Amino acid sequence: MTQQLDVKNMVDTKALMDRNLALELVRVTEAAALAASNWVGRGDKEAADAAAVAAMRETFGTLHMQGRVVIGEGERDEAPMLYIGEEVGDGQGPKIDIALDPLEGTTPTAKGGNNSLAVVALTDEGGFLNAPDTYMQKIAVGPGVDPSILDLDAPIGDVIKKLAKEKGGRIEDLTICVLDRPRHQDIIDGARAIGARINLIQDGDVSAVIATTEADTGIDLYVGTGGAPEGVLAAAALQCTGGAMLGRLVFRNDDEKARAEKWGITDLDMIYKTGDLAKGDNVMFAATGVTDGSMLRGVRRFAGGAKTSSLVMRSKSGTIRRVEAEHNFERKTWLKSI
Ligand code: FBP
Repeated sequence: MTQQLDVKNMVDTKALMDRNLALELVRVTEAAALAASNWVGRGDKEAADAAAVAAMRETFGTLHMQGRVVIGEGERDEAPMLYIGEEVGDGQGPKIDIALDPLEGTTPTAKGGNNSLAVVALTDEGGFLNAPDTYMQKIAVGPGVDPSILDLDAPIGDVIKKLAKEKGGRIEDLTICVLDRPRHQDIIDGARAIGARINLIQDGDVSAVIATTEADTGIDLYVGTGGAPEGVLAAAALQCTGGAMLGRLVFRNDDEKARAEKWGITDLDMIYKTGDLAKGDNVMFAATGVTDGSMLRGVRRFAGGAKTSSLVMRSKSGTIRRVEAEHNFERKTWLKSI
């Protein structure tokens, strides 16, 4: 009897710790976003990134976990903080793998553009693909659409026709979000040729993938080639919101292939599904807007403080929280690096 009670308590404790950790996570992205916001529009993307990294690193130290960075700022010899393999957290509590990007969208931050975020995802040990810092072809839709319509090799027009059927609407009313790059001209032409709309973004495809999950954004499909680490972060978000994506690594040279092999990737042509990029059982995801985007408002600064807008989500419960916070810099005692 006593033993049964103990087991029940253990399970409850684990669940409670996960729920608390998810809520704590927003402090990490808020800190990185606030630090990066000092650099919005000031033309120095390296400084913006460095500020976000330092603030995120500092805040991670307050979390009760044995965290290990799986998707981070780069390899140990190229990144002083939040490098792949770095251990973060207070060194106690659950073993957690971390995918992070303290500043996703360095260029729009430096230029005062759109869609930059501070973003973190957590999962149980081994839950994220060890994606190398290469490109990834991606295609993603929000919840309520049969994921089997997604195809990285079919002409984009065919996928869009199937999407229109799935959504029960006209092709002319569908909006396809694409990074504005010359490499995407075929996708843009193919989509426009059948009458679909294109939403061209300058940067920030994590935000763009998440935008497919909310009807309000008007984005029905995200397609194109962007960063592979960003693909893992986007998949983590989809595990919480619903929706699906496919990804395939794109290599520009043998060095990139060697990096992938180093991280244990043997099939270089593999098409990854959402669950291969981020296993869905216990994913937590948080993002705070740095500059305004389709999903989140950026940091609004005023004398002595700032307001932030964040998303916090858990795959287990499917809860999506929007957190609006007002920060008083005069009373902020917990963070040195902002
Ligand atoms: P950074 O944060 O590294 O600047 O990345 C921003 C981004 O737009 C990503 O969202 C996207 O996946 C990638 O860059 C696209 O890469 P590229 O600019 O080389 O086309």
